[in-house]
Amino acid sequence: MDLLEWARNPWGQNIPIHIAWFLIWVAAIAGLLFLMVHATYIRYFAKARAFANTDSPVVAARIPEHVPRHSLTARMFRWVMAASMFTLLFTAFLPKVGFQFDWVTYHWIAGSVLTVSILFHIIHASFFMDFWSIWPDRIDLRDAGRRILRFVGKPAPPPDRFAKYPLENKLYHGAIIAAGLSSIVTGVFMMFRVRTIFFPRNPYLFNDMTWGLMYVLHGLAGVGLISLIMAHVYFGLRPEKRAITKSMISGWMSRDFYLKEHDPARWPVETSAPPARSQGARTEGLTDAG
Ligand code: HEM
Repeated sequence: MDLLEWARNPWGQNIPIHIAWFLIWVAAIAGLLFLMVHATYIRYFAKARAFANTDSPVVAARIPEHVPRHSLTARMFRWVMAASMFTLLFTAFLPKVGFQFDWVTYHWIAGSVLTVSILFHIIHASFFMDFWSIWPDRIDLRDAGRRILRFVGKPAPPPDRFAKYPLENKLYHGAIIAAGLSSIVTGVFMMFRVRTIFFPRNPYLFNDMTWGLMYVLHGLAGVGLISLIMAHVYFGLRPEKRAITKSMISGWMSRDFYLKEHDPARWPVETSAPPARSQGARTEGLTDAG
């Protein structure tokens, strides 16, 4: 059982030409197993989540009913990216599992849309958003340790509530960066192998081995994305995560959900009310808009 498909080039060298397509099923089944194990665990074994909650009533009272979470620009990026990602997955893998159609043109068009949207996202996130909000910080790592200890029944203080993104979302984002950028960088080069509107076709840009390895990396990133996207859709639909998913449509989350899961000191919310420092409140988590 070989994980790659090989071919012999005119010079008699054995060259990998792409991944073995049964890996599509391995990725889909792995994704499905993960969902089933997680859903069973949450349904029958998980304890209610506990957080250290230190909000003063003054801080809580200053949180608006609708807490802004995603700007219109960020939401538009997200849905363009989602549409192109699904188009890429379906156009790439349906023909491999028996639904034949002329997929390559749709695929590179969707790939170009994804590439442009990711370039836009990198600029937007670096210069117009809080760049560090999606990377694990010291509190995340400390709390991960606490959560593991509590999971195995050892005594540990409850973790703090999350900043804008829970640690698991941050780790997921890292995995998507690895798989997404691998598929994009290889995909852009692979466009030289087919006819597109961007540059003349040039299959001699690299030697056979480099092309082969590029197709392999593209395929591996692609099947990795099958499992990752399955997990993403599953979590997006789970009842306890639905408030986060809805905020990707409406742009806001409710005050109750925010106070339950997010720490105003770690993810400050813009508020127009006057500061309440004189009352000894923990106000460092709040910023005044304007
Ligand atoms: C979700 C992301 C993606 C997935 C799952 C995916 C999957 C695939 C797969 C499985 C193939 C067939 C490779 C082979 O025959 O070994 C392929 C080919 C290709 N992909 Fe992607 N891809 C993705 C993203 C992209 C992107 C972002 C681009 C362009 C920027 C792109 C451009 C191409 C091109 C040009 C081919 C070559 C077609 C050919 O040589 O016939 N792909 N892709």
